[in-house]
Amino acid sequence: MTKRVGVLISGRGSNFSALAEAARGADFPAAMAVVVTNDPSASGLARAREAGIPAVCIDHRPYGRNREAHERAMQDVLLSHGVELLCLAGYMRLLTPYLVGAWQGRMLNIHPSLLPSFPGLHTHARALVAGAKIHGCTVHLVTDIMDEGPILGQAAVPVLRGDTAETLAARVLAQEHLLYPAVLKSFLAGGAIEPPAGERLINPLPHKAAAP
Ligand code: GRF
Repeated sequence: MTKRVGVLISGRGSNFSALAEAARGADFPAAMAVVVTNDPSASGLARAREAGIPAVCIDHRPYGRNREAHERAMQDVLLSHGVELLCLAGYMRLLTPYLVGAWQGRMLNIHPSLLPSFPGLHTHARALVAGAKIHGCTVHLVTDIMDEGPILGQAAVPVLRGDTAETLAARVLAQEHLLYPAVLKSFLAGGAIEPPAGERLINPLPHKAAAP
């Protein structure tokens, strides 16, 4: 059965668009229920609205340091749209145990590195400084620790001579757009992740979707 997916974004929302595009496919097991952002200037809001998907901004600033109160406001929006599974896609705020607990086993994140290498920010520049020869992206279940949690799938790209953080980011982003829908589909199906063509390395372990 099709699951209703909510997406949290803070910026341009290209990963959201990739998910939304995949969800238009007849056999895709998810429908985009709502996009929520903490940032009124997030360009992903317009992308969502153009795609006919409800998009809501809950600006975090009026909540000051009360991150949980901000999350509770977002949670109200998610629940009012019938969201059953939550995807973080460039959501740039640390989560409190409240939201993580509310979506335990049902919240996915995409991170632009091959975790557990390079959690946190500036992953592409750090990979270059470290001399990494392979870089990539990871989709994982969200736990209380940032950029940790069981890995559901990864996609790898080569680091090429002359790469800058920008060229490397672009190569990784193209893979993110393929990986996230593939992992979401597999996660919801509770089956093995289909290995797509190309340079990607996909974790072939089956994962069971948690009951909503
Ligand atoms: C992506 O690189 C994602 O992995 C990271 O933030 C970026 C968001 O890009 N978490 P977009 O907003 O999906 O275009």
